[in-house]
Amino acid sequence: MELPFAESYRIKMVENIRRSTRDEREKWIREANYNLFGLKSEQVFIDLLTDSGTGAMSDHQWSALMLGDESYAGASSYFHMKEAIKEITGFDYFLPTHQGRAAENVLFSVLVQPGNIVPGNAHFDTTKGHIEFRKAFAVDCTIDKAWDTTNPYPFKGNVDPVKLEETLKKNNDKINFIIITVTCNSTGGQPVSMENLRMVREIADRYHKLVVFDSARFAENAYFIKKREKGYENKSIREIAREMFSYADVMTMSSKKDAIVNMGGFIGMRDKELFTKASTYNIMFEGYITYGGMSGRDMEALAVGLYEGTEYEYLETRIRQVEYLGNSLIKLGIPVQQPIGGHAVFVDAKKFLAHIPEEEFQAQTLAIELYKEAGIRGVEIGALLADRDPITRKNRFPELELLRLAIPRRVYTNNHMDVVIAALKNLYDRRKEIKHGYKIVKEAPIMRHFTIQMAPLG
Ligand code: F0G
Repeated sequence: MELPFAESYRIKMVENIRRSTRDEREKWIREANYNLFGLKSEQVFIDLLTDSGTGAMSDHQWSALMLGDESYAGASSYFHMKEAIKEITGFDYFLPTHQGRAAENVLFSVLVQPGNIVPGNAHFDTTKGHIEFRKAFAVDCTIDKAWDTTNPYPFKGNVDPVKLEETLKKNNDKINFIIITVTCNSTGGQPVSMENLRMVREIADRYHKLVVFDSARFAENAYFIKKREKGYENKSIREIAREMFSYADVMTMSSKKDAIVNMGGFIGMRDKELFTKASTYNIMFEGYITYGGMSGRDMEALAVGLYEGTEYEYLETRIRQVEYLGNSLIKLGIPVQQPIGGHAVFVDAKKFLAHIPEEEFQAQTLAIELYKEAGIRGVEIGALLADRDPITRKNRFPELELLRLAIPRRVYTNNHMDVVIAALKNLYDRRKEIKHGYKIVKEAPIMRHFTIQMAPLG
């Protein structure tokens, strides 16, 4: 008999979670104004809101905390982090920041001016937010295949070279850099191929532009390159990661993902002048350049996490769990973004609730129904997250309306995944009984989905 696949770790500490009744959940979600961010975590049974900062640290990371050097300047923990970053990514200069969006804030303070254009592959919402906040524009150059959830193309995070070149030709003087998100969260945790990264570098060189990687899930991207791209099957994750980063000038990192810490981030740079300019903003916004919003102990855990997050056995366990959830849903005929991405399963709400109009926010409707069904919290990646157009102030309805089920690292077992599968199957079977969606009652002018208040229609 073939031995089944099992996790590459065992559990040393547990946190209790609580089941609830449908009546309780209906009350709680009403009190939260039908916004899942408004729920208390104790009102949630399986929390798939995000894979960011929700991972379980290892025994090695917990022991590293004790080594934290809490000096204001020049802490040894800073140098441990520097060493890990240099070894894993190859970048000589770095600035610690308290999380990924803080890295964007510091870097974009140097690189983004009003009226600029920033081409990329489906920029993450905080990235777009930091660009638009500076009165600049994010231009999405992702390949069209990414928007067809049934297309099994293995690299749906890829940049379309024609779209990128057209954007560069048209706006050459307004563009300082191209930003590539690896893996691409907004298209479904989809990887970017090495060939595509190389191509972006080649185009950037011809137009004398910088290449920035938004690297939150770079290790998951490296895993997919190993599994799916010819010529990489025998290379280690770290070799692949080093080659990926060799095509970038700068990286921003939310360490809450692939460095498996609960808080932390950084900017990696090759150029000393950029480092010097960014240092001033880091001091203003984050803290002195050798701690940047992180405590010494957090920098220690982050350094260990960078090594653990790039181990093949860990990544295989992680991504196979996400695939287990996604492929089980596919077998049941439930529409999801295919192939299954790295950190989450993205349910195609436009197809799931095809009878509900987009103006009633299909993905949010599905997210609320799933919570009511089984206490599972996902997140809408659709029109609410897309915000209004900064000029016309009209709702932007993106190509995809998705319910994201993000899996925290090393936290849930496949029994939890089975609960998610059964809950979605129940909803899919009775989807026609969900007659109405929701309307917006109150919203913030930017990044509205975090605090939005909604009310049921019908
Ligand atoms: N870039 C990407 C691709 C992200 O997914 C995130 C965060 C950030 C940047 C910002 O990093 O949260 O540390 O400030 N994504 C989380 C998510 C919030 O749920 O996908 P941060």
